[in-house]
Amino acid sequence: MRTRVDFCAEVENEMRMVLPSLSVNEGMARSAVAAFCAQLNPTAVEIADIKCAVSEAVTNCIVHAYRDTVGDIQLSVKLCEGRLIQIEIRDKGCGIPDVKLAREPLYTTDAENERSGMGFTVMESFCDGVNVTSRVGRGTTVTLLKRLHK
Ligand SMILES: Nc1ncnc2c1ncn2[C@@H]1O[C@H](COP(=O)(O)OP(=O)(O)O)[C@@H](O)[C@H]1O
Ligand SMILES: [Mg+2]
Repeated sequence: MRTRVDFCAEVENEMRMVLPSLSVNEGMARSAVAAFCAQLNPTAVEIADIKCAVSEAVTNCIVHAYRDTVGDIQLSVKLCEGRLIQIEIRDKGCGIPDVKLAREPLYTTDAENERSGMGFTVMESFCDGVNVTSRVGRGTTVTLLKRLHK
């Protein structure tokens, strides 16, 4: 599908973190992921790309998955062989009925709050692979793959 690189096989280092879905934690999540990835000496552009994609995925957990409530956002970052970074953002919120539709540019279920519907498109453009699995009433897992320069 739209995943352009494979999931990583050999994990060299890993970080896991759980945060409640408060909007104040979006910046924390983005910075924590970037700080962990810094050990691979990414370029400033690569770090900016990662932060931007993580920010979109975490914001979706806060505003969509747990729309009228607060729940856990689980983050996992795996640094894999070949300078591949796999970032997983998981929620146990409302889920997405039609993932293919949700990933379309400009598709949003929240136009009244002036959402752009470009979150998944941004993730795709800043990463080398994006995988989304979701079950209504159970939650969503977004996996971002980013391959760093040699
Ligand atoms: N974690 C999630 N849980 C539930 N629904 C989600 C989640 N992430 C995205 N969605 C759904 O996918 C749609 C598109 O997401 P996105 O491309 O980020 O655009 P936007 O957030 O601007 O609406 C959202 O409007 C929402 O309906
Ligand atoms: Mg969004």
